[in-house]
Amino acid sequence: MPIISASNITKKFNSFTAVNSVSLQVEKGEIFGLLGPNGAGKTTFISMLVTMKRPSSGRAEVNGFDVSSDPRGVRKSIGIVFQDQALDEELTAYENLDLHAALYSVPRNEREIRIMEVLKMVELDSRRDDQVKTFSGGMRRRLEIARGLIHYPKVLFLDEPTLGLDPQTRKHIWEYINKLRREHNVTVFLTTHYMEEADTLCDRIAIIDHGKIIMMDTPSGLKDSLGGDTLLLECSSPRKLCSTLKGQECIIDSKPHNGKLTLRLDNGEKKIPMIMQKARDAGVAVSSVSLHKPTLDDVFLHYTGRTIREENISSAESFRMHARARRRMR
Ligand SMILES: Nc1ncnc2c1ncn2[C@@H]1O[C@H](COP(=O)(O)OP(=O)(O)OP(=O)(O)O)[C@@H](O)[C@H]1O
Ligand SMILES: [Mg+2]
Repeated sequence: MPIISASNITKKFNSFTAVNSVSLQVEKGEIFGLLGPNGAGKTTFISMLVTMKRPSSGRAEVNGFDVSSDPRGVRKSIGIVFQDQALDEELTAYENLDLHAALYSVPRNEREIRIMEVLKMVELDSRRDDQVKTFSGGMRRRLEIARGLIHYPKVLFLDEPTLGLDPQTRKHIWEYINKLRREHNVTVFLTTHYMEEADTLCDRIAIIDHGKIIMMDTPSGLKDSLGGDTLLLECSSPRKLCSTLKGQECIIDSKPHNGKLTLRLDNGEKKIPMIMQKARDAGVAVSSVSLHKPTLDDVFLHYTGRTIREENISSAESFRMHARARRRMR
């Protein structure tokens, strides 16, 4: 029996549909990832599973409890690591965990053992009596994960667990998450917009865009489903090159996007000279070429016509533009 089960879960904010009829099931002990760009509906979806937001329609169960009719049952079964649940900076690591343990009614005589256990798990036991304000970003995130585990949850929900962390710390967090599953059989449901995170950490991934699941499979299943090699060309006119290459039998798919052309084709390395020749004949200047096996970003591009990376960059840019505009208005 799945430990998480959602069927046709929908969340509307007035007339805007943030999560659109999502159905999925997660098995016990799985690490499941919801991958999508900014604004795709990841936090909204996970918020309904953890009973922080009520679904507009549809049903979901976690550990056998219905999120709408039995939120208490759900909350007892889960640990939550969300961005906005701040730690108390003035308290020590130990005190933060002790407070949380009390909140979750962990019996007083068990608290110290459990706190030390979870602190060891995230390798912060030597810092137990230091105030959180002296911790780095990665250490804080580890402490937040420890806090989410203090009441031995069956399912741990993580919203963007490594957002803003450097690559090395990110890998560390992945190791802890893997260890949790290996040693404690905790089911992990996480959201991310980092493709590498979804690819290396998750057993299965659901790709979400505009509130809808567009694909769901294992990382290799998703990548293999595309077939062929990916050839990425940066060029002066991706659309022109795309139409020049139309009709070439070896090309399975071609997508111009953001100053680039992504082609999928078999035996890509052998086709590069022909493609370069066609580009020259059409007067398209190619400034870089790279060939790789399909990535999750190529999967996203295939179904949406955009890449997750470009989406995130453009969101960040629009955020900066808005911030600049706001500053000007002050
Ligand atoms: N309380 C709310 N009221 C109105 N709209 C909302 C509300 N919360 C979220 N939204 C909208 O719903 C959409 C999905 O937001 P959500 O936070 O779930 O995205 P996300 O995938 O988590 O994005 P990010 O990667 O930026 O965290 C966005 O368009 C957002 O503006
Ligand atoms: Mg979010």
